[in-house]
Amino acid sequence: MNICVIGTGYVGLVTGTCFAELGNKVVCVDIDKSKINSLKKGKVTIYEPGLKELVKRNLRQKRLLFTTSIKAGMKNAQIIFIAVGTPPKPSGEADLTYVENVCCQIANNMTSYKLIVEKSTVPIETGEWVEQIIKQNLKRKVSFDVASNPEFLSEGSAIDDFMHPDRIVIGVETKKAKGLLAELYRPLRAPIIVTNIKSAEIIKHASNSFLATKISFINAISNICEKTGADVIEVARGMGMDKRIGKAFLNAGAGFGGFCFPKDLLAFVHICEKLGYDFGLLREVDRINTEQKAVIIGKIKQNLQDLDKKVVGVLGLSFKPNTDDIRYAPAIDIIRILQSEGAKIKAYDPKAMKRAKKELKGIQFCKSPYAAAEKSDCLILITEWNEFKELDFTRIKKLLNKPFIMDCRNIYDPKKMKRLGFKYIGIGRNK
Ligand code: UGA
Repeated sequence: MNICVIGTGYVGLVTGTCFAELGNKVVCVDIDKSKINSLKKGKVTIYEPGLKELVKRNLRQKRLLFTTSIKAGMKNAQIIFIAVGTPPKPSGEADLTYVENVCCQIANNMTSYKLIVEKSTVPIETGEWVEQIIKQNLKRKVSFDVASNPEFLSEGSAIDDFMHPDRIVIGVETKKAKGLLAELYRPLRAPIIVTNIKSAEIIKHASNSFLATKISFINAISNICEKTGADVIEVARGMGMDKRIGKAFLNAGAGFGGFCFPKDLLAFVHICEKLGYDFGLLREVDRINTEQKAVIIGKIKQNLQDLDKKVVGVLGLSFKPNTDDIRYAPAIDIIRILQSEGAKIKAYDPKAMKRAKKELKGIQFCKSPYAAAEKSDCLILITEWNEFKELDFTRIKKLLNKPFIMDCRNIYDPKKMKRLGFKYIGIGRNK
């Protein structure tokens, strides 16, 4: 099939590249000229495992093209995916300006039937709105359909998520739209859930909100564990083995970050408010998530007495491992609070330091975890990259001013750390 994907962020680029890998001819469009020029040369500006190789291969085989022109990109396409950003407004509401601009341009350049698919996370009823904008801006009489096909890709495992999805959700209003999308996804042999557009839109919001709720729930439980002498890892294991609950997303830690959960959660609260429903549960999920950073700062303070002029080594800056994305990363918030209380920061991350340098000032970025530990008063692990799992702790202990480790992702064994002579603090652990 001929496909056009508008927006080459994480979602658009992964989606377009994977469709090309499945044998389709894909044109990816973005207004950012320098990004498109880099992509044409096979240079991928984001870190996503396996993506660079896939882009290069499909470029070579001429199944993947890049352009800044929506008109050129959509010319031969039967299906157009809209994957542009929907950033939050100060109120939490999603800003649909980019989506609106794209819809106007699609309408202006439409000369034959097109299926226009929302891939970006958008408020409920955006499907209807997209249809209206296109109708109002059409230059000639052509038929088209709108569909919602939410994405469930996680950064760091996006290609695998695309190729092996748990389910594919298709929100459509016509048989033709259903047929085209079912045909496009057929090679993946995954269960396809066909709904109307509004249900598909809600499935996306409800899924992200539910997962965020699981995380805040276990973080709240971790605080109870600390007060009672229980261990949150054992509690989560005991809960997660119940199939109705499931073990995924029950890792207590520094809270959720990234450009999806925090923003989508508040956008959903806003949508519900507009519909006349106060989704207080989700506001509480957000509150617990914010509070979790204060809980972590409190533990550091308790152990260092005062933060003023203390040196804090930080391991991990990205919002989760295997990505260089630092948007809404717990590490960024925690570092800012530590700095505001007078602490000096030495940080190391395998992939995210380039982006973090633009965001954070007055930090010493280090070449290794050991350099971050050197002469620091404590070492905080905030993102659980694999390379932090097996460190030489005898060396770390010698390098640190004080043998204090705050493990915000519970990746180390408390007993072992204590045996090695560390003051070890995890999240919700009492051993
Ligand atoms: C999330 C969803 O998992 C995807 O299904 C969805 O497509 C995507 O948002 C989106 O809407 O675009 P992502 O933001 O890449 O994907 O990351 P997740 O793996 O879901 O992690 C989100 C945050 O939760 C991270 O900060 C992670 O550290 C945290 N987390 C996750 C926990 O604190 N505990 C857990 O048990 C799981």
